[in-house]
Amino acid sequence: MSVAAVREDGPRGEAGPAPLLKVRDLSVSFGRLTVVDGVSFEVAEGRTLAIVGESGCGKSVSALALTRLLPRGARADVSELTLAGEDLANASEQRMEALRGSAIGMIFQEPMTALNPVITIGTQIVETLMRHERLPRRAARERAQNLLTRVGIPDAAQRLDEYPHQLSGGMRQRVMIAIAIACGPKLLIADEPTTALDVTIQAQILELLRTLQAELGMALVLITHDLGVVSAVADDVVVMYAGRIVEEAPAETLFRKPCHPYTRGLIASLPPADADLPRLQAIPGIVPPPSAWPPGCRFAPRCAYAADVCRSAMPPLAPAPSGGRAACVRLDVVLAEEMA
Ligand SMILES: Nc1ncnc2c1ncn2[C@@H]1O[C@H](COP(=O)(O)OP(=O)(O)O)[C@@H](O)[C@H]1O
Ligand SMILES: [Mg+2]
Repeated sequence: MSVAAVREDGPRGEAGPAPLLKVRDLSVSFGRLTVVDGVSFEVAEGRTLAIVGESGCGKSVSALALTRLLPRGARADVSELTLAGEDLANASEQRMEALRGSAIGMIFQEPMTALNPVITIGTQIVETLMRHERLPRRAARERAQNLLTRVGIPDAAQRLDEYPHQLSGGMRQRVMIAIAIACGPKLLIADEPTTALDVTIQAQILELLRTLQAELGMALVLITHDLGVVSAVADDVVVMYAGRIVEEAPAETLFRKPCHPYTRGLIASLPPADADLPRLQAIPGIVPPPSAWPPGCRFAPRCAYAADVCRSAMPPLAPAPSGGRAACVRLDVVLAEEMA
């Protein structure tokens, strides 16, 4: 199943497979500070949803909430959180532990912090397999070696006995991917999986994720601040700004017809195809911290189109020409203007 084939069944999976992951009205707060504010999305089986936005928009906190791995002091509220129909919001901690690493695989930005530095790569994979698949040690070791080969690690048998620090960053991320897919998850959540890597390695890791996803039929939630990554792999895109979704659309139409000024700014800031041209700094300012979110549209202070109406009421997500929905009440003005 290629990405192109997956895309054929149209926006929002209308004719496509049933939703695997459903998230409705997810909010997360630390004390009295809300950092994720009413986020909803779905991911169909075998599809890739990208969640994109600048640093601090609430992407990682949302991902942690999906797997119920939020740090102490955080509180999540959600009206629906289901995986293949199973209620995750009210599942026992024991059940969640069983699901993490089996039905749900996870990859994070910095593999060195996720891998145990004093345990060999092999033992870390073997233990995952023994715990979740109840494989005997020998069979688990064999499987671990196959997994390393599958994620593109040469000399897998030898690598099994090495420690994380003996591997390059790209190889460590491949090990993390091997662990994440070890038990054949239905859903893989990858939070900035290529951000810490060199550009050439980034492309290889993305290609690996894409291949594995197609082979294993996994759904993928790919979190990134980099829209360039999104265009390479996503079927559907959710754009987050300051704890909310500001636009959601099929990837193809989002890039062809971005609507929300924030999405348009992100696209305009992508590096030009001609590397000698300067990269535009299309969005002035920075994402405000949750303690400084303005009333009304949170993007208004950085938006060239903002009017009084934007500063008084929070714009709802409404159908937009991007083929999805956008949270902007000034779309007619925005869309009347050619993108820079
Ligand atoms: N442990 C924490 N305690 C308090 N605030 C946090 C904590 N983790 C994240 N936040 C806040 O939540 C917001 C969203 O963070 P995050 O989800 O990491 O953003 P992103 O992944 O989009 O860069 C940020 O304002 C961040 O400061
Ligand atoms: Mg993050």
